[in-house]
Amino acid sequence: MKSFSSDENPSVKTVANSNNQLVVGTVISDQETPTFETVRIKLKAGQDLKPGTLVRIPVMRNEQTILIGRIRSAYECNPNERVESVGVRDALKIPKMHPTEEHSTRIFRLAEADLIEEIFNREFVENGEKKIKTETRAPQNLPNSGADVFIADVNEIVQTLGLEQDENQGLFIGETTSGTISKIILKRQSVQRHFFICGTTGSGKSYAMGVITEELVQKHKLPVVFIDTQDEYSELVKKLGGVVVEPGKDFSIRISSLTESELLDLLPEAMKKSPLQCDIVAKAFGELQTKLTNEDMAKFTLDDVLAKIPEVSAELTAKEGDIPRVIDAVQRRLGTLAKLKIFGHGVADWRKFLYPCVTINCKKLTSSQLQSVATAVLRELQNLRLRNHIPPYVAVIDEAHLFVPEGTSSPCKQIIREGVRIGRHHGICMVLLTQSPVDIDKSTIRQCNTRLVFALEPDQLDAIKGVKADATDEMLRALPKMPQGTCLLSGTYESVKHTIPVRIRKRNTEDSEGGKTPNIFEEMQEKWIKIIEELKTQGGE
Ligand SMILES: Nc1ncnc2c1ncn2[C@@H]1O[C@H](COP(=O)(O)OP(=O)(O)OP(=O)(O)O)[C@@H](O)[C@H]1O
Ligand SMILES: [Mg+2]
Repeated sequence: MKSFSSDENPSVKTVANSNNQLVVGTVISDQETPTFETVRIKLKAGQDLKPGTLVRIPVMRNEQTILIGRIRSAYECNPNERVESVGVRDALKIPKMHPTEEHSTRIFRLAEADLIEEIFNREFVENGEKKIKTETRAPQNLPNSGADVFIADVNEIVQTLGLEQDENQGLFIGETTSGTISKIILKRQSVQRHFFICGTTGSGKSYAMGVITEELVQKHKLPVVFIDTQDEYSELVKKLGGVVVEPGKDFSIRISSLTESELLDLLPEAMKKSPLQCDIVAKAFGELQTKLTNEDMAKFTLDDVLAKIPEVSAELTAKEGDIPRVIDAVQRRLGTLAKLKIFGHGVADWRKFLYPCVTINCKKLTSSQLQSVATAVLRELQNLRLRNHIPPYVAVIDEAHLFVPEGTSSPCKQIIREGVRIGRHHGICMVLLTQSPVDIDKSTIRQCNTRLVFALEPDQLDAIKGVKADATDEMLRALPKMPQGTCLLSGTYESVKHTIPVRIRKRNTEDSEGGKTPNIFEEMQEKWIKIIEELKTQGGE
């Protein structure tokens, strides 16, 4: 079936049932439906239902319940507009004679909906008193053919999706895009099971991240730390009272926070090719770490590792005559890490840094420096949190495919995987954003239980199939045309029970957007043409 999305026509007369609710259609019976999963609905004349709209279908049989359907697709039947009829009309130049949908018995629209939830009243006794509670469950009743179909109301939407009702208690991120416009308020604890946000460039990922940050920081006072590869969050963070820091300039990281394999991953390529040099670094680092674990020391720095190299080199180098050369090579190459200035004495107190939020501006870093910074920051924060030295926090990683790539290894992969795997138990929340779900490690995104999927190129669609929750193929196929700022929200029982299109709300921190597309035409006119023409008139090379 083809999907359609024409706007509702307000001029069309509506049909109301006894409760004065708008009846948008009628459940029909054909050879395939209704089933427990699918229902087909003949729409009332002039009524349209957009894909993703939630509808209610009261069931009356042994039990009175309400089935909730989510519109998958629709199709229009109009025998007057078959190609032969249109051909005859065009050839004979005769106007349309047939009645409109309202007055026709042959023109109709048929929508198909997936039955996603059933709302029922559960009776129970409390303190000797009989009470009734409205609950939801997977559909267990078959819809009645001929039943009226209504647009679901706000309460039904909230119940069906398992959302938070109180805006102050949850994360208000946007609203439904069709049917009854209902606020989408995620349960705040959903962030503990991590978020994944993907979409093509300019689709609205960072904007949405800003909205989520407003909720986390302003409403729930949860610290947020950004690994900001494109300097997209500085304005927002400043507006929210946080700080913008540059690695190596405003803060450094203790090398002792890394694991041995992380340190080896960060070594210069030339060094990684020499097993002896790697062994020397590993042993020097390992011995210092043992001291640290035995609590002989509180931390160690890159200088401490460098100082340990001669002793370890002497132990591991077979030929005595080679020792000075080996020491020199290892110290020189390991010393290149010092150029980054990221490794130093560490942040005096992360607690002051983290709260209310901090963005680590990594725009000026090369890709290998970026890996060092992200690995070191995430590892240090996780270590501190596991020892309860810092409060819970949310780590936001934009361009996450660079850090947890699919297939290949990267220094950061281990710590991010650990974050999503164990974070929930320790108050470490992760948000991963990417333009390229094809390139990101699938086992990592599977651990992110709430997902916001913005417009994607068709070649990226397969990549999200593994995490699509109950999104239908129709929903996925519509993704390349998803408008900016609109996403498919999906999740699990804790966040959002069913996939639904969501329009992300406006940010309430004004002018907080970073990473806006610059006006290159204005820049040419106002700056470069003048400079270049002046250069040309000056002559010379
Ligand atoms: N929900 C929204 N409401 C209003 N404007 C929006 C919304 N979402 C996106 N925009 C606009 O679209 C622009 C691009 O969005 P955004 O910066 O979030 O893209 P992105 O997906 O992060 O792209 P990139 O991958 O290139 O960083 C924003 O600067 C903003 O002007
Ligand atoms: Mg962005």
